[in-house]
Amino acid sequence: MGNSQAGKTLFVAGGSSGINLGIARRFALEGANVALISRSPEKIAAAAAEISALNGGRAIGVAADVRDYDAVEAALKQTHDRFGDIDTVLSGAAGNFVAPALGMSANGFKTVVDIDLIGTFNVLRASYAFLRKPGASLISITAGQATRASMFQAHVCAAKAGINMLTQCLALEWGPAGVRVNAISPGPIGDTEGMARLAPTPEAEARIKARVPMRRYGTKDEIADMALFLSSDGAAYVNGAIIPVDGGSGCGDGGGDALGGLGD
Ligand code: HXC
Ligand code: NAP
Repeated sequence: MGNSQAGKTLFVAGGSSGINLGIARRFALEGANVALISRSPEKIAAAAAEISALNGGRAIGVAADVRDYDAVEAALKQTHDRFGDIDTVLSGAAGNFVAPALGMSANGFKTVVDIDLIGTFNVLRASYAFLRKPGASLISITAGQATRASMFQAHVCAAKAGINMLTQCLALEWGPAGVRVNAISPGPIGDTEGMARLAPTPEAEARIKARVPMRRYGTKDEIADMALFLSSDGAAYVNGAIIPVDGGSGCGDGGGDALGGLGD
């Protein structure tokens, strides 16, 4: 176990699984106190127990929906009461399903925007009162769909685009207080619910990997590495950045199809 996060506190929204839980694990192993929220009481209790076992019992899990501002604020207050000023806030709660716009009800579209974008506003806005100032690092999880239109992902594309702009607006407003606001934009990450939904078959998985310049899925650890960096002194002048950790996927079509496979 390292100690780069010793004495520091991480709050994770959407922390019961996947990439966000992976980040919580890494911070716990580096010595951080950890608070996790998600909707499911069972999932969040299990995740908190797992993290507690890694960091000597300094983890709490609270059932809260990011669409409910008061519930988010109460969870942040509980975190602050237990651990003091919060050093890192990770806003990663999200929902996704694959559907064409015409197969999406108004409520279906709104649901994803509410969780991803409004939820991120709620988490970051409510956290401000409980942050270490100066010094706090706020990190949202966005996606390549924020800047690259994608079939059957109108809700996610719109919501994540909003997260990118929200990140930059808050970076402007909160930078003077020494609060940095950044976002990580993961590429396709293995062993996650997100990719299980977007690439449910081996064939779909192979097609996606073939378009990534690195020719593989990323790992949760690779996203955690960036989160840890953004919360370190080394990132003290990094503010308002949307940082891809995507194996180069955002650069363009990495499949080499356009020139008859010359890129393969
Ligand atoms: C069309 C759908 C649908 C589908 C739900 N809806 N699934 N419409 N196709 N497959 C519609 C419902 O009919 C309803 O509209 C509305 O969406 C709300 O559905 P609920 O089930 O009531 O919502 P809720 O319980 O809040 O659940 C939210 C959810 C669900 C997003 C729909 O899938 C969820 O909880 N997801 C969390 C886990 C997850 O998605 N993880 C992956 C994150 S990855 P009506 O009109 O009927 O009321 C990610 C990818 C980023 O974000 C990019 C990766 C590369
Ligand atoms: P995941 O395991 O499904 O993670 C989503 C988390 O959000 C879960 O812990 C879920 O727990 C929680 N959540 C969902 N709705 C919530 C709500 N309304 N309030 C509070 N918590 C809520 O998915 P993942 O694939 O690891 O994705 C994690 C993040 O990375 C997301 O922001 C996603 O958009 C982003 N991302 C993923 C990929 C990828 O390849 N997987 C790529 C780019 C970006 P509960 O069900 O208990 O609420």
